[in-house]
Amino acid sequence: MGRRILIFDTTLRDGEQVPGCKLNTSEKIELALALEELGVDIIEAGFPISSPGDFESVSEISKIIKRATVCGLSRAVEKDIEAAGEALKHAARGRIHTGIGTSDSHIKSKFKSNREDILERAIQAVKWARKYTDDVEFYAEDAGRTDNEYLARVVEAVIKAGATTVNIPDTTGYCLPTQYGEKIAYLMNHVPNVDKAVLSCHCHNDLGLATANSIYGAIHGAGQIECTVNGLGERAGNTSLEEVVMVMRQHGHLGLDTGIRAEQLNPISQLVSETMRMPVQPNKAIVGANAFSHSSGIHQDGFLKDSQTYEIIRPEEVGAAHSKIVLTARSGRSALAYRFKNLGFDFNRNEIDELYTRFLNLADALKEVQDTDLHQLAHNLNN
Ligand code: KIV
Ligand code: ZN
Repeated sequence: MGRRILIFDTTLRDGEQVPGCKLNTSEKIELALALEELGVDIIEAGFPISSPGDFESVSEISKIIKRATVCGLSRAVEKDIEAAGEALKHAARGRIHTGIGTSDSHIKSKFKSNREDILERAIQAVKWARKYTDDVEFYAEDAGRTDNEYLARVVEAVIKAGATTVNIPDTTGYCLPTQYGEKIAYLMNHVPNVDKAVLSCHCHNDLGLATANSIYGAIHGAGQIECTVNGLGERAGNTSLEEVVMVMRQHGHLGLDTGIRAEQLNPISQLVSETMRMPVQPNKAIVGANAFSHSSGIHQDGFLKDSQTYEIIRPEEVGAAHSKIVLTARSGRSALAYRFKNLGFDFNRNEIDELYTRFLNLADALKEVQDTDLHQLAHNLNN
């Protein structure tokens, strides 16, 4: 067993912010139950002040979810925090997630303010939130572009004010993995009271680095990763839950563990995709339709001799149906023979040679050769 990394799922909040992905309360409840079953530690259920519908969703989810912590987002504004506290009042474990932008760009452009004022507002927000719950998470928005020295002062102050988790978001997906890892290491080494809270990674995928950044953050001492199923989220998305979980499982030497039931990763990916009406890209790691498909002759031949030649994860481990041998004009004889065998045909070497020539002509004309085409080829061979 390695160090346990908490999985904070924000599919229902950051994921749901994606245009077209909006959910109603019953859809949110269905997904919250599936996320709890998956084994996530914290479910960010919504942003209660944002709309009456979202308030209701957070409130209803709080009544139903018993094992996972239910979290509601707020800005560092008293009425937001009050709404989050009210929405979470029935939760067995409720967390308020409050925060404010800490980068110079946020401080100057968004708040027209200065570092000292933002520090005071951060402290005040945590104090307000602590009136409702002992479980308060503070986010330093745009921490990825925040000066480390100032960020360390903010983190120390909010922990002193009562924050039990401090989120270090790379809101714009700007950081390199080494930079993000060093930021977490800097905070671990320069915040005197850091042992009183959990540092959390919340990374966006604007440069395709969200998973790598979150893993680097965890390696350097963060205890929580914020992520979404299928990597849904603002713009290019958030850290993908299935990816960080499988990176930790595949690389046991990192000494990091989660409580996620990996065999539910594909079923929940499909459920989220259908409920949020957002297709999963076919080449998506772990849960894409092609994640366990082999189509080139060289790969197919190697895979059929030993699946590990071209697969580092067994599909059953992540709840995917099975590996697929797809037939295209790039496929080889062994793949063709394998597919015929699966259909109940047992052709000898000469027959396969003849069928392969006919198959290539067909495959050049089609994108993919299907079982019905194979039946036709077999039928014509004997007639
Ligand atoms: O990306 C971000 O900074 C956020 C915060 C609200 C946590 O989503
Ligand atoms: Zn975010």
